[in-house]
This record gives sequence, C-alpha cells and structure tokens, in this order.
Amino acid sequence: MQNPPRNEAHQIVNVSLHSLAAGKQVILVGVPGAFTPGCSLKHVPGFIEKAEELKSKGISEILVLSVNDPYVMKAWAKSYPENKHLKFFSDGSAAYMKSPGLELDGSDKGFGIRSERFALLVDDLKVKVANMETGGQLKVSSADDMLKAL
Ligand code: BEZ
Repeated sequence: MQNPPRNEAHQIVNVSLHSLAAGKQVILVGVPGAFTPGCSLKHVPGFIEKAEELKSKGISEILVLSVNDPYVMKAWAKSYPENKHLKFFSDGSAAYMKSPGLELDGSDKGFGIRSERFALLVDDLKVKVANMETGGQLKVSSADDMLKAL
C-alpha cells in the first residue's frame, strides 16, 4: 500500500496497513475508483459526513483504499476540503486487493482492474464486520450500514 505524496518532491511513501491497524478499531473502505460517481459522490462523502459519529463509537481510523496511483489519490483527497478524518491510500498495482480476491474487472467500463466496493471493520487486525458489494454496487457498505453494525 502506498500513501499519497506529501511534499514538493512528490515523494511516495510506502505504509503498512498492519502498522496503521494494529491495536485499534479501524474501518477500511474499498472503492472501485477515485473520482467515479458512486465512489466520489456517494460512498466516500457518506463516511466523511458520519466520521465523527463513527469515531464516537470507538473507530480510530477510516482508511480509504483504491486501485489508483498515489497522485490520483492525493488529488482525490484534496477534492474534499471538508474532510477531517478519512485518510486516502493507493493500492496502485492492485496487489492488496488481489491477495484476498477482491479485484473487480472494470474493463467493460474502460477502467481495467480495480477493486470491489466494501467496508470492513477491523479490530486489532481481525475483521469483525465485512460489508461486501459486487459489481461496484452500493447497497450494503455505506457509512450508515457500518453505524448500524457497531
Ligand atoms: C462507481 O463509481 O459507482 C463505479 C465505478 C467503477 C466501477 C463500478 C462502479
């Protein structure tokens, strides 16, 4: 996993999901693509809106993962100036999504390999809630769905 570049040199920093999630309750939000309608107008804004409520229920981090390069993820994160809590990460080569078989073939839409949409509640590295979609739909993985599960 890679985080967005953080300085003028466009440095890309590799981060370990393990180190971000160990000993904490975190939500991993997987989306098919930065700036795409379902992801950028509905799914992610829902988590931004409900982030403080989620945090009040014990969530330490809300991490957004997408199979886009780190520069796209940086630009996408910047497009939400109202966001205070979500952190955006790039899985540019889909390595993270492919290992559990979460890749989504978006070739018919011209997107190539992306990831299925999901929201996971991970408590000290153990998945406690897995709200998984198929085909990029948004039926069970919203912030409200996660709040109901907490
Ligand atoms: C969406 O934004 O809803 C979407 C994008 C790519 C594939 C599937 C869904």
